[in-house]
Amino acid sequence: MPFPENFFWGGAIAANQAEGAWNVGGRGPAKTDVTTGGSYKEARKVTWIDKDGNPHAEPESRRPLPKGAHYAVLDDFFYPNHDAIDFYHHYKEDIALFAEMGFKMFRMSISWSRIYPHGDENEPNKEGIEFYRNVFQELRKYDIEPLVTIWHFDTPLYLEEHYGGWENRKLIDFYAKFATTCFQEFKGLVKYWLTFNEINNTVMFLSLEQDVTNADYQRAYQQLHNQFVASAKAVQIGHAIDQENNIGCMICGITYYPLTSDPKDILLNRHNWEQNIFYCGDVQCRGNYPTYAKRLWEAHDVHLEITPEDMVDLDLGTVDFYTFSYYMSTAVTTHENNEKVGGNFSMGSRNPYLEYSDWGWAVDPDGLQYYLEMMNDRYQLPMMVVENGLGAYDTVEEDGSIHDPYRIDYFKKHVAAMERALDHGVDLIGYTPWGCIDLVSAGTGEMRKRYGFIYVDRDDAGNGTFDRLRKDSFYWYKKLIGSNGEELD
Ligand code: BG6
Repeated sequence: MPFPENFFWGGAIAANQAEGAWNVGGRGPAKTDVTTGGSYKEARKVTWIDKDGNPHAEPESRRPLPKGAHYAVLDDFFYPNHDAIDFYHHYKEDIALFAEMGFKMFRMSISWSRIYPHGDENEPNKEGIEFYRNVFQELRKYDIEPLVTIWHFDTPLYLEEHYGGWENRKLIDFYAKFATTCFQEFKGLVKYWLTFNEINNTVMFLSLEQDVTNADYQRAYQQLHNQFVASAKAVQIGHAIDQENNIGCMICGITYYPLTSDPKDILLNRHNWEQNIFYCGDVQCRGNYPTYAKRLWEAHDVHLEITPEDMVDLDLGTVDFYTFSYYMSTAVTTHENNEKVGGNFSMGSRNPYLEYSDWGWAVDPDGLQYYLEMMNDRYQLPMMVVENGLGAYDTVEEDGSIHDPYRIDYFKKHVAAMERALDHGVDLIGYTPWGCIDLVSAGTGEMRKRYGFIYVDRDDAGNGTFDRLRKDSFYWYKKLIGSNGEELD
């Protein structure tokens, strides 16, 4: 029995990709609300108005808007996150379906701007708190343990516009206040928390972008430092409010391989692990910057504003457990003329041993085993895989059934990989596949990139009834959970 008896089988979503109700119940806007739909080939666009009143729609940029410009919802565009899958009004029905599958854990996030619409108010929005309390109570009704991400890519738009986002240290306190409100209001209902979703994306994505300057690295590393401190403060506050709280980090887990055995590729690969994966885990699990941080900063002439109090906070605010998303591996090389693959998130060299999804993501269950075993050694903390899954096109048959053997096959292989890691002594305590119910893709804004065990009738143009349908994988996952991981077939 490799899976422990109380293993947390479940699923995961995020507020901005599922809730909808973007301007309902006193909620303020977030960046995703001014972001259009896109596709594998075409990047999502952020819409804004310049100081002379001219509208713009441009691929999302790490750089601030020009002076005098402001984000805006424009008439001619469709914004998929506005309604998403309307979890806001369907949560009871959805949770009943999760319970039917036998979920022990449900990972979701709290929309910051539903609690603090601007982010800098003194008092929280009561309606927002009430919504989440109802959701947590509904989960408890079925003995489903909530796992709550405090920040999942959705800083209130007001903080982006008026404070310049995470580059500004003031956000540390605004976030700490938001987290405090969550810990206080949901005490007793929530015991498992994650401070920041895929915190490493900030720097990791830079290595995938074109025309990146040292100034971009300076901004990214400073934003990240401010988030590290905010996370460490949240961990301390959460523990002080309730000793029962378990607070974890969440890393975008990509397994890096060298494409060749050229020692230069081996070294490049190691440096990729350091910059893109280890850097954040090391700070959040060990409470200090690693030795190689100096090398990473020097490479881009980065000079961080770090106070002595920050270092105390980092030391006192280490996380209780390590979580990560895992979808794919990637291969890196110093050699020219190799075949590149992937869209968002996954640019790298084509690995000839692997198959790729329709969105160019390498399917690699062994990479999951590799990642689990490596991180188990590195941090010796309990771990959870809090995102994993296959984004794929699904077809609804005339009788309403959805046959998704490709998804079942993907999960089977990844569950088997977790089983091997457990067998080798890895302290894995939970698995919450991504988009357990179809939702809006973060990378492309599409609905047709579907991950769910549950299908949602909604398309990329905003048509559909929001009806929920069980896919074949729904029944497969139910059986798997019911047998605690034994019945893979
Ligand atoms: C992770 C994010 O990066 O990957 C999720 O935490 C996201 O928010 C998921 O949805 C899958 O990516 P995508 O682009 O297919 O939605």
